[in-house]
This record gives sequence, C-alpha cells and structure tokens, in this order.
Amino acid sequence: MPFVTTLDGLIAEKPEMVIEAASHDAVREFARPLLKQGIPVMILSGGALCDDELRAKLEAAAAKYKALLYVPSGGIGGLDALKAVCVAGADSVEIAVTKPPAAWKGIPYVDKMKLDLDHLAGPVTLFEGTAREGVPYFPANVNIAAALSMAGIGFDRTRLKVVADPALIYNTHYINIRGKTGTISIKVESVPFPDNPKTAMLACYSALASFKQFNSPVRYGT
Ligand SMILES: NC(=O)c1ccc[n+]([C@@H]2O[C@H](COP(=O)([O-])OP(=O)(O)OC[C@H]3O[C@@H](n4cnc5c(N)ncnc54)[C@H](O)[C@@H]3O)[C@@H](O)[C@H]2O)c1
Repeated sequence: MPFVTTLDGLIAEKPEMVIEAASHDAVREFARPLLKQGIPVMILSGGALCDDELRAKLEAAAAKYKALLYVPSGGIGGLDALKAVCVAGADSVEIAVTKPPAAWKGIPYVDKMKLDLDHLAGPVTLFEGTAREGVPYFPANVNIAAALSMAGIGFDRTRLKVVADPALIYNTHYINIRGKTGTISIKVESVPFPDNPKTAMLACYSALASFKQFNSPVRYGT
C-alpha cells in the first residue's frame, strides 16, 4: 500500500479496511466518506462517537453501504463479557481512568483547574460523572470510556472517573460491571508503546488482533 495523504488517494487504493489512529477530527473527516465507498473503518478515536449525530450518520452509512464500522476494545478488555451482561440486564458500568499526572498536561479542561501536575502530593480526581459529559473533555485520553459506553449501556449511564496519580508508573484502568449475571471487576495496567509512549501497547495490538479476525469465518471469544 503506497503512502497517501488525501481521502481521494486513499479511496483510489481500494483498501481492504482503514484503521483510524489519528484524532476525533479525523473520524469526523474521513469515516463517513470511506463507509460510503463500502470501505470498512476501524475507529480507535472512539470518543468522537460520543456525538450522537455523527454516530447515527456513520451507523446509517455502514448499514446502507454494507461496510463494517468497528470500534475495538483498544486499551481495555472485557467488552465481550459486558455485552453478555447487557443482554441479561446490566445495572451499572463504571470506569476509572488513572494515569500519572504528566499524561494530563496540555488538556484545556485540566489546565483550567490550575493544578501543579509536577508536584501532586497524592491522587487528584479530575472528573467524575457520566461518560457523556466527561469524554469530550479529554479528546485523546479516554477513548476507552467511549468504547465501554458503546459496547454497554451508553454514554449517559456509563460512569467515568478520571484521576491523576503521582504514585503510578503505568496507566491503570479499573472497570466495574454489575448486572443480573453478577459482578465483573477488571484492572488493566498498561505498558506504553515504546515508539509512542502516549499510546497503550494493548490498544495497538487490539487493532491488529481485530484486523486479523476481520475476514475470518471462525471467531473465538469475541
Ligand atoms: N481506543 C483506544 O484504546 C486508544 C488507545 C490509544 C490511542 N487512541 C487514540 O488513537 C488516536 C491516535 O493516538 P496516538 O497516540 O497514535 O496519537 P498521535 O498524536 O501520536 O498520532 C496521531 C497522528 O495522526 C495525525 N492526525 C491527527 N488528526 C489528523 C487528521 N484529521 N488528518 C490526518 N492526520 C491526522 C497526527 O498528525 C499524528 O501524526 C488518538 O485519537 C488517541 O486518542 C485510542
């Protein structure tokens, strides 16, 4: 596949699938035109889909043009179990996204809090509320909360807590699910990708694993 820099150039190459790993803006700009060409799209910047109007448009395009719209589990896990809980009846879904303070630098919502992120004495909660409210505040940092919301009980019922914790070395996420089938608690401690420490290694391999099973007639576990 040659290097291309335009949407038309990308479409002309007739890709088997396009994996978005860029930004919310890129989802807004590229996902729908690609789906309309019948090209499957995998979205890593799932927080963009907190916008109901955009998500509805992409879902409609996927259905109309028979192109897969796919959001992988990315930097978390357990979405298979969450979906099963939802079929039986889910009562609550919560995620706490906890990262070392440096990970929260340069985010306008956090900057407004005027915290000295280099010298926090202990964990500080930056946000607590619905995923609907919180996801847009952190466009590049809580896409996992969006994936969790969409796989589960939606942005309005999924609870999100965002924490800066100076004791952490790795980004660490806690998921709690309660429903008719019981309770599920998951802790994900995430090693950064060596070439790009902003990104979780798990997220990269989640995209790769999803791509590997894309055309498979047999699927185990998902
Ligand atoms: N779902 C998950 O679990 C998960 C995990 C990690 C990262 N992400 C998301 O994946 C995306 C990529 O992460 P990253 O750490 O590689 O980011 P990055 O900033 O290191 O790289 C993104 C690249 O995309 C390019 N880009 C951004 N917007 C673009 C646009 N509109 N058109 C063309 N190119 C554009 C940038 O120039 C940059 O080269 C981010 O949105 C991030 O939040 C999701």
